[in-house]
Amino acid sequence: MYKSTKVRDDIVWIGVNDRKIEKWESHIPLDYGVTYNSYVILDEKICIIDGVEEGENGDFFRKLEATIGDKQVDYIIINHVEPDHSGSINSLLKMYPNIKVVGNTKSISILKLLNINIPDDRTVIVKEKDVLDLGKHKLTFYLMPMVHWPESMATYDMTDKILFSNDAFGSFGALDGAIFNDEANLNIFENEMRRYYSNIVGKLGAPVNAILKKLSSVEISCICPSHGLIWRKNIDKVIEKYQKWANIEAEEEGVVIIYGSMYGHTTEMAEILGRQLDERGIKNVYIYDSSKVDISYLFSAIWKYKGLMIGTCTHYNMAFPKIEPLLQKLENYGLKNRYLGIFGNMLWSGGGVKRVKEFADRLTGLEQIGEPIEIKGHVTPNDKEKLIELANLMADKLIADR
Ligand code: FEO
Repeated sequence: MYKSTKVRDDIVWIGVNDRKIEKWESHIPLDYGVTYNSYVILDEKICIIDGVEEGENGDFFRKLEATIGDKQVDYIIINHVEPDHSGSINSLLKMYPNIKVVGNTKSISILKLLNINIPDDRTVIVKEKDVLDLGKHKLTFYLMPMVHWPESMATYDMTDKILFSNDAFGSFGALDGAIFNDEANLNIFENEMRRYYSNIVGKLGAPVNAILKKLSSVEISCICPSHGLIWRKNIDKVIEKYQKWANIEAEEEGVVIIYGSMYGHTTEMAEILGRQLDERGIKNVYIYDSSKVDISYLFSAIWKYKGLMIGTCTHYNMAFPKIEPLLQKLENYGLKNRYLGIFGNMLWSGGGVKRVKEFADRLTGLEQIGEPIEIKGHVTPNDKEKLIELANLMADKLIADR
């Protein structure tokens, strides 16, 4: 057993890396793969916390057997029923005749919907703050509805102060050797964690805040999520990030410019905005062509920076086809606390910019900067002046916040 897979001498990571998976929940690209983290506690009673995706059971069971040998497993705690964690249950039930599935009332009923039927005598139903005694380790439970499903919960090891947080504090990205945050290069993980948060639970700020409040008085030495790195250092920093994301507060000064363009005119507008923001000393300026960049990356960037500028050409009186789903998703998630600039283009009939404006008017938590700019065809010198003025207004707002 690798020393570095031990969370403690008697708590071992038996998670698996999935580098083959193309898309999370069939729609979010996973360029860096993903982990399904699972943990086994070796005590008088042997307890697994969360299983893995069914297709990854081979590696999971190899690690489990390498850790416990021919001992029996007593419990599998299902913090969350989504198949990336419940995919091992049927096999565990067959392999370990005495194993019991630990979950809350909701989790057991949702398991049935996934055709995982557990006999009553092999089920342990727990409520908030119930205690599961393994011997040395005493585990308790914190319900965290809608982080990420209604039945989601976290398991807390009262003995070692470890929080098994399931999807909370999770991240995309397979683990490239290191499993602890202090051993890994965080460059990719910080972005993948935000991309995971903003897309998977970005809509669920209130439930995330509720669990953060619940845990605020709990001493935590280590956070073991079900995806991504284990956080055993700088825990306060990761909690602080979560708090910001839950409140949809930007992390940094900067402007994300996202546009949709068919003939290059809206692209030209975006370039002018970017250049002027640079002239004004705004360092974090990122321009994205919506036709090429997946919406999950756009969401992650929007969650990070305070300024947002959305540009669109007109497509049959609507916004560009790749901008439309972005607007819908942002509205559904209730984006707020951002400065927003709107720009776009038309040839003979408008509608694209109007569509973005209507979206912005409905999201009352956005502060619109200046008036939307909609130009006809190529950018004239007069149009360029208007765009420079819009960029200046955005820069003024950001600079005033310093
Ligand atoms: Fe990792 Fe909501 O499943």
